[in-house]
Amino acid sequence: MAGARIGLLERYRVRQSWLRKLEPHGVDAGSTLLIAALVLFLLFGVPSFLHAQTDCLSCHADKTLQDASGHSVGVDADNFHASIHGSLGCTDCHSSIKEYPHPDQPAAVKCETCHADQAAAIGSSVHAEASAHPCTSCHGDAHAIFPKSDTRSAVYPLNIPKTCGNCHGSEALATKYGLQNVYSAYMDSIHGYAVSKEGLLVAANCMSCHGSHGILSHKDPKSTTYRTNIPNTCGACHGGVKDEYLSGIHGKLLAEGNQKVPVCTDCHTAHAILQPTEADFRMQSTPICGSCHKDQLATYRDTFHSQLGLLGGYVETARCWDCHQAHRVLPASNPQSPVNQANLIKTCSRCHADANLSFVQYQPHANPHNRKLNPALYFVRLFMNVLLWGTLSFFTLHTLLWFIRAKKEQDKGGPAAEAKHD
Ligand code: HEC
Ligand code: HEC
Ligand code: HEC
Ligand code: HEC
Ligand code: HEC
Ligand code: HEC
Ligand code: HEC
Ligand code: HEC
Ligand code: HEC
Ligand code: HEC
Ligand code: HEC
Repeated sequence: MAGARIGLLERYRVRQSWLRKLEPHGVDAGSTLLIAALVLFLLFGVPSFLHAQTDCLSCHADKTLQDASGHSVGVDADNFHASIHGSLGCTDCHSSIKEYPHPDQPAAVKCETCHADQAAAIGSSVHAEASAHPCTSCHGDAHAIFPKSDTRSAVYPLNIPKTCGNCHGSEALATKYGLQNVYSAYMDSIHGYAVSKEGLLVAANCMSCHGSHGILSHKDPKSTTYRTNIPNTCGACHGGVKDEYLSGIHGKLLAEGNQKVPVCTDCHTAHAILQPTEADFRMQSTPICGSCHKDQLATYRDTFHSQLGLLGGYVETARCWDCHQAHRVLPASNPQSPVNQANLIKTCSRCHADANLSFVQYQPHANPHNRKLNPALYFVRLFMNVLLWGTLSFFTLHTLLWFIRAKKEQDKGGPAAEAKHD
């Protein structure tokens, strides 16, 4: 590193140019002596002060300093010194600058010289081409980078949503790349609330689910947000729920490669996650279970429980998961399933305190069209239909025959015709 710093001679040249700068303001002989002494002092008296940083900052600490195009070239020295790179020389990063005067447009700084791993990960991520200088697009001002554990850092956990939101909260960017604008959805979610309002460090910020430098599209099987990897991604924090889910039918089939079963985000969404005890979530039987189990949704709709929910306003009635559980969903034939015949009293008595064997004969999915599942209902329906159609057909035929006979007798001038002339 030291080798990259400006040499003594170059430093002297910088000083010289400074002295020339001062000249037009008129400097008398006494002052010249004084300045010469000062230069000697600067050069040999306090070597630590003769640091490349100070050389550069002698001009750049001036916050009003601008280049020809009016772009500020001032550097906040206090901020820089407090930052993680505060002990580096300016030329450790601006390595193309060897002497003063330096070029007006020095070569761009390459962070990868010192942070090769991060740079390689960015290079193969979705953000490889996302901005002119990807590192500073997330880490902010290059001269004010703080450790990730420092609250001033742009990548401190509580600051991450805003950092990513600088781009992902923009409608223009979303449209250009065909992405959803996820920032506002996230901010209104249970995680966004926990991070932004409660300052909860352990709640999920963007990085918890997506990673930091190696972010991949959710269509990439290696991505943490790829469908089959989602239970593990959420499960890093929700370990108990993950275990329940994996022991249920949905999780078991997912592990066998079945892509039709729901993963966490099918039921909860990825960015707009609600508190499940809230009415807004509890009202959503259709998107949550019914979008896949259409038959059961239809039959559930016919029952008292669903009708109750449709009365308007929110009613604490039985939703799919009150009877089936949400994560450890099991087929009814499994003895551990809450809807297995053996467990029904327990399941129903959560809400119907006096549920007994006869009460649980009530069928939550009564489907009169299914003879196998609901034989009694099937035959009752069949009988009622036969009765209805039989009666209807009998009387239709009867009326028809009656009409024909009446017509015949009328033509013969029989009793019907006479009656008409009365
Ligand atoms: C004598 C004053 C002076 C010193 C000393 C000086 N600079 Fe500059 N620097 C400037 C000015 C003025 C500009 C604006 C560009 C221009 O018009 O030349 C500039 C421009 C720059 C730029 C480019 C800004 C842009 O717009 O792209 C960088 C980077 C830079 N300086 C870094 C340094 C570093 C690093 C050092 C120390 C090794 C240093 N400078 C020393 C005056 C100075
Ligand atoms: C950690 C690396 C790093 C260090 C250390 C560093 N810079 Fe920079 N500097 C950058 C980056 C990155 C940019 C953005 C432009 C680019 O991509 O080259 C930049 C830009 C600048 C600019 C252009 C103005 C701007 O803000 O766009 C100036 C002037 C400058 N640096 C001066 C300095 C001075 C003076 C020091 C020492 C006090 C210094 N830099 C130390 C990385 C660094
Ligand atoms: C998409 C946003 C993003 C981009 C782009 C980005 N970083 Fe990071 N960076 C982060 C986040 C978030 C963290 C915090 C990681 C953590 O807490 O584990 C981080 C942490 C770091 C760290 C601390 C060590 C570590 O890996 O945790 C270094 C060093 C770093 N980044 C360097 C870079 C460099 C160099 C570049 C450019 C090649 C870069 N970053 C680009 C988001 C980004
Ligand atoms: C000359 C080498 C060098 C260059 C170039 C450099 N850094 Fe660093 N960087 C360091 C050192 C040394 C540290 C402190 C030790 C560490 O944590 O790795 C550091 C730390 C960091 C950290 C904080 C790590 C943490 O623990 O949270 C980030 C973020 C970071 N650098 C980003 C950047 C970015 C962005 C650039 C380019 C603008 C850059 N660095 C350029 C040497 C460098
Ligand atoms: C709790 C986990 C989680 C958090 C927190 C999270 N995401 Fe996501 N994100 C996902 C998953 C999973 C997907 C995959 C697509 C889906 O299921 O909607 C995704 C998809 C995306 C997409 C692609 C959307 C598209 O249209 O294809 C972007 C962009 C994105 N997230 C950015 C962010 C940003 C920015 C944040 C923080 C403000 C964030 N995410 C927070 C889990 C999360
Ligand atoms: C400089 C703006 C910028 C910042 C900051 C940024 N992104 Fe992105 N991000 C983009 C752009 C642009 C794309 C689209 C890249 C493409 O498709 O080529 C993208 C793509 C993504 C995708 C992939 C979407 C998909 O599934 O196809 C995810 C996920 C994502 N970003 C998450 C994040 C997260 C998390 C952060 C913060 C740690 C972040 N981004 C910070 C600009 C940004
Ligand atoms: C970094 C850890 C972390 C990750 C990863 C994470 N969460 Fe969370 N999640 C939390 C914390 C902490 C809370 C509690 C927030 C609160 O109570 O304010 C929470 C709350 C929730 C809640 C509300 C229920 C409750 O008990 O408060 C749901 C639902 C939820 N998360 C689902 C998910 C899903 C789905 C994923 C994956 C797409 C996920 N979480 C990823 C940490 C995480
Ligand atoms: C089939 C839909 C579905 C799937 C898949 C699903 N959940 Fe849930 N989740 C729910 C429902 C419904 C509730 C509400 C349960 C209740 O109120 O009794 C819930 C509740 C939660 C809660 C609140 C605490 C609790 O246990 O009640 C968290 C946290 C949670 N889910 C996280 C996850 C995670 C993580 C995954 C993936 C491993 C996941 N969920 C998969 C539907 C689902
Ligand atoms: C993304 C679609 C999807 C969602 C959403 C979904 N499931 Fe499933 N579910 C499946 C698939 C696929 C199976 C495997 C059995 C099959 O092929 O029917 C299954 C199996 C079941 C079984 C066992 C049935 C059997 O025949 O073995 C029950 C019970 C069940 N789900 C209830 C629920 C409940 C309750 C919810 C809501 C909390 C729900 N499911 C949400 C797709 C879904
Ligand atoms: C009041 C409790 C209750 C509610 C509410 C309920 N179910 Fe059921 N469900 C049962 C019972 C009991 C069975 C087993 C007997 C049967 O098939 O009718 C069952 C059976 C099922 C099965 C077939 C399981 C198998 O192994 O064959 C699926 C799938 C199912 N329900 C999904 C749903 C969905 C989706 C909803 C919401 C739209 C829902 N259930 C609402 C109690 C309920
Ligand atoms: C989450 C709570 C909840 C669960 C679990 C639940 N119910 Fe209900 N049920 C209700 C509510 C609320 C009503 C309407 C108020 C009432 O009548 O008690 C209702 C009404 C009924 C009714 C019509 C009114 C009556 O009391 O006769 C029947 C029948 C019924 N439930 C059967 C069942 C059966 C069978 C089960 C178990 C398979 C079950 N319920 C599970 C909440 C629940």
